[in-house]
Amino acid sequence: MATMYDDIDHILVTEEQLRQKVAELGAAVSRDYAGKDLLLVSILKGAAVFMADLMRAVNIPCKIDFMVVSSYGGSNTSSTGLVKIIKDLDEDLTGRDVLIVEDILDTGVTLSHLVPMLKMRNPASVKICAILSKPSRRKADIYPDYLGFEVPDEFVVGYGLDYDEKYRNLPFVGVLKKQVYAD
Ligand code: IMP
Ligand code: MG
Repeated sequence: MATMYDDIDHILVTEEQLRQKVAELGAAVSRDYAGKDLLLVSILKGAAVFMADLMRAVNIPCKIDFMVVSSYGGSNTSSTGLVKIIKDLDEDLTGRDVLIVEDILDTGVTLSHLVPMLKMRNPASVKICAILSKPSRRKADIYPDYLGFEVPDEFVVGYGLDYDEKYRNLPFVGVLKKQVYAD
């Protein structure tokens, strides 16, 4: 029987590498935010897997919240234009230390619009924790404060990231076979 794994050309970041890195990031966040009012904000759907792992690697009190955003005119494999909030946060950000938990900082367009929008709500701070970054694709002047791995300029799937809403449940980060896009 065919599985998702048959569609993978190669693995970029293994399960073990992800596990190790998430533990390191969780320890760093726990240290840096000790005594603060930490709110982890995850952007659905891509960051859901990373959020679930990262929050369990954080050992200080924190709260979590989720938002759904979309970029206008974006296609499946690139993102352009402005950001629209489809589902807003439930939490009030006033005085809170917000850590945005993201799947990937690609062009940076999404977060370069979202960060100023969140800063208008008077949080104490807004920082970014991304499990992946594609620095070669960056269009906006934005950097992750916490980063897992840099990946080359290839479209990646797994660990929450999708192609056509699929492959989010792969436990590693990989690159699809060319023929998958052609179908
Ligand atoms: P941005 O280009 O930094 O604004 O990225 C916006 C969103 O596009 C990311 O949060 C991902 O959900 C998605 N994205 C960017 N690059 C990839 C990729 O290689 N695979 C899957 N999704 C991606
Ligand atoms: Mg995303």
